[in-house]
Amino acid sequence: MSISRRSFLASTAAAALTPNWGLASTRRLRAEQVVTQILKGEFLEYGPTKSLGFNGSTPGPILRVRQGDELAVTFENRTGQESSIHWHGIQIANGMDGVPGLTQKAVPDGKDFKYAFVAPDAGTFWYHSHSRSWEQVARGLYGALIVEEINPPDVDTDIVVILDDWRLGEDAQFIEDFDGMFHFSHGGRMGNYAKVIPSQPSVRLGDRVRLRLINTANARIFPVDIKGIDGKVVALDGMPLAIVQDVGTLTMAPAQRVDVIGDVKKSIEFSFRTNQGDYDLGDIAVAGTNPSPRNSAISPLPPNKVAKPNSDPVRHETLLMQGGAMGGQHSGNDVWSLNGTSNMPGEPWLKVNRGASVQLSLVNDTSFPHGIHLHGQHFFELNENGETAARRDTTLVDARGKKDILCIFHNPGKWMLHCHMLGHAASGMKTWIEVT
Ligand code: C2O
Ligand code: CU
Repeated sequence: MSISRRSFLASTAAAALTPNWGLASTRRLRAEQVVTQILKGEFLEYGPTKSLGFNGSTPGPILRVRQGDELAVTFENRTGQESSIHWHGIQIANGMDGVPGLTQKAVPDGKDFKYAFVAPDAGTFWYHSHSRSWEQVARGLYGALIVEEINPPDVDTDIVVILDDWRLGEDAQFIEDFDGMFHFSHGGRMGNYAKVIPSQPSVRLGDRVRLRLINTANARIFPVDIKGIDGKVVALDGMPLAIVQDVGTLTMAPAQRVDVIGDVKKSIEFSFRTNQGDYDLGDIAVAGTNPSPRNSAISPLPPNKVAKPNSDPVRHETLLMQGGAMGGQHSGNDVWSLNGTSNMPGEPWLKVNRGASVQLSLVNDTSFPHGIHLHGQHFFELNENGETAARRDTTLVDARGKKDILCIFHNPGKWMLHCHMLGHAASGMKTWIEVT
């Protein structure tokens, strides 16, 4: 059997789950080549894949830190290429944001870089390479970063669930088309194999669990369905919802996170919808029974702080996305452009005063959806009535669609704004904002 698109889409085999990551907080992250068994189930016979990882595994270790505490990590780059780490979703000090050319120099191969920062918000975040990220993240340079609440919710177990896809050949190795123009100009480089990687293989019947889903895929939007758990969505992109929501199908753009708290009714099964039917992403098995299951309602998590706006009136700006296949003319000099410019301009797209409230209309004049990520601060998505809805760091804008967000730019520095379909960012969809 080949790992063809056809068998990928037709696959129904449940993945065997053998998480190989450490759970302790780590003081060093060594980026290096690793060999890992990515293919599971019916594809197991294809053998392991040469990848990139941290401390011997991909995903890298789960980093855990308490809200308000400092995380200090020595990044040791042994990848054979330049690299850096971005701490996605952390409202971080600018110099620690990990963007070569904007907030630091790329870390050469064989060299180290000390990252140290305070994590101001509790929630589910992640870290990943921000150098040739469309290749390095695809090869496995990422991991979960969990900031624990001072008073965490009452659950039996707290499970990180990575969702990813991989584009592999029949030798189980990466297809070396990371820079492929077709991927850049269409929906991005999609994998032909996908699965969940839960941080533990089993739960007890009746356990109350917290699932921290993270979409680490380069380009794939996962419409995820979860069976076997009776629960609520409690946070998006790390930020608690004021009112918990029913779970339903979770649409997760690349880089987005969803936290679910719920009670285990049977094995927890993950799948996502495709045109050809449901694709099985794997499960968390049931082993044993919880003798004293909880019956309290699932309540909202303690809120994270929202920055106070300054007294300036709300400023309105439009971010126009153009380009790509079937996209028509635009004035950028690469595949994609933002407001007519491809790639990082020498001057910031916007200069804003610290504390300024800016309503950004994200206008997608292209034939593909884009997951737009702002570094350094969260923003509110606005609903059709212009009311603030979920607070996020990455928002999905449908093809030919529009989304308004409201951001209080409280965090001084130079912040990237880009599409998190990483091949789109590689071919033009990136810019930056300076907060002074
Ligand atoms: Cu998670 Cu600039 O990215
Ligand atoms: Cu995009």
